[in-house]
Amino acid sequence: MSAGAILAGVLAPHPPHLVYADNPPQNEPYAECGWEELRWGYERLRKSIASRGVPDVLIVHSPHWRTNSGHHFLGVDHFAGLSVDPVFPNLFRFHYDLEVDVELAQAIHDEAAAAGLQTKMMTNPSFRVDYGTITACHLVRPEWDIPIVCISASRAYYLFSNEVGDAQMIALGQATARAVADSGKNAVLLASNSLSHRHFTVEPSLPEDMSKEHVYHHGQYLWDMRLLELMRQGKSREIVDILPDYTEQTVSETKEGSLSWLLGALDFPTYPAEVHAYGSVIGTGNAIVEWNPQHG
Ligand SMILES: [Fe+2]
Repeated sequence: MSAGAILAGVLAPHPPHLVYADNPPQNEPYAECGWEELRWGYERLRKSIASRGVPDVLIVHSPHWRTNSGHHFLGVDHFAGLSVDPVFPNLFRFHYDLEVDVELAQAIHDEAAAAGLQTKMMTNPSFRVDYGTITACHLVRPEWDIPIVCISASRAYYLFSNEVGDAQMIALGQATARAVADSGKNAVLLASNSLSHRHFTVEPSLPEDMSKEHVYHHGQYLWDMRLLELMRQGKSREIVDILPDYTEQTVSETKEGSLSWLLGALDFPTYPAEVHAYGSVIGTGNAIVEWNPQHG
């Protein structure tokens, strides 16, 4: 068996607005349009990944599957149901039907446990898959024709500190990369977090009214640009250095660990990342960013 590989590492934010505006048949609400820069960014990302073949599996780390203790992995091979965004039930009522690569999930679980992390396989067949997972996977692979591995967000950042959280997530990322290499599979890794995350508290009557959409706070925008510039320059170690501060200053979803996990899995890339898009969703900063280890 040849060694597995990471085909792409992706910062794949999950605003339900992007699925809403795409009008896929699985989603009940209907949108006229909206957030085109980000949706077309996802389109560019999909083309870029497709140019390197069809991956065997998507591995997603989701900020919205929150587990108080340790890192959990979906451990049932099929899930179906209705996912409703608790904040935006008017935008996201999505009928999902997905397959899980339990073998690879178990392998990552075992590697992480061997590295000293607290882990658990989630084996409840009635479990409702979180919308952060569904949204990111849908935007990267709307065909839903390949299995996923889904990893939860532990609370280490909240129970200890941003530094402890990042250290754990980097170790989890490295365990993920070892398991992928041993699996012989080609994987695309999705860090499903947005960047700066201060957002509006009132929704416009028409959610897709783009005259209402804008950056919420210039300082947070500057932080986002700083982070993206470092990604574009291949300066991952510098990103890790400033991440605890960035997370605090921008109330960012990086506090759930997805980006740190990805940088650990990619072994701190020194090659430039491709920023496919940056845009605001209810004022939050969202970037679609791709690392291609084969071109590194
Ligand atoms: Fe979120």
